[in-house]
Amino acid sequence: MILPIVAYGAHILRKEAKNITPDYDNLNALIEDMWETMYSSNGVGLAAPQINKNIRLFVMDSAQIFDNLEEDELGKYPDGPGIKKVFINAIIKEYTGEEWLYNEGCLSIPKIREDIVRPQTIVIEYLDENFLPHTETFNGITARIIQHEYDHIQGKLFIDYLKPLKRKLLQSKLTDISKGKMKVDYKMMFIK
Ligand code: NI
Repeated sequence: MILPIVAYGAHILRKEAKNITPDYDNLNALIEDMWETMYSSNGVGLAAPQINKNIRLFVMDSAQIFDNLEEDELGKYPDGPGIKKVFINAIIKEYTGEEWLYNEGCLSIPKIREDIVRPQTIVIEYLDENFLPHTETFNGITARIIQHEYDHIQGKLFIDYLKPLKRKLLQSKLTDISKGKMKVDYKMMFIK
């Protein structure tokens, strides 16, 4: 089932999300719905607060990006072929490596894309969809998407990294998004 995506301006996008336990109601169905929602809106990641659930769960698929790179771009991003994963109760333990710019967008903030600086490498502890624990290191675009989705469960958004002036210039667009005055080709929800 395709779920509506919470638009910028909603309180839930600003809250720190809560851990879940294996008995969480209909978790498998929820994860399935998140995949379907993410792919149908051409996203590469989706976090539970974006579908109005205040829990530490996100899904991401960086393989899509590598599949769509032109031949001459492949060398620029040597960290392929990407991964498709579910992250539950994740904690990023370490941010390392050089900072680099990448143009980010967010399904909750449609039609805004900005170059954002983030570190190259992360170490993350998480549970997979079977609640098995993992500690893994990720780099490049994969680490980039994980950091963006992880921020969602911390109540943070990519626009928070912009310089104040840049952010100010976006303010009227952001207000339009929060009021639903932006044409988007996927289902969204507008809540306080
Ligand atoms: Ni996002």
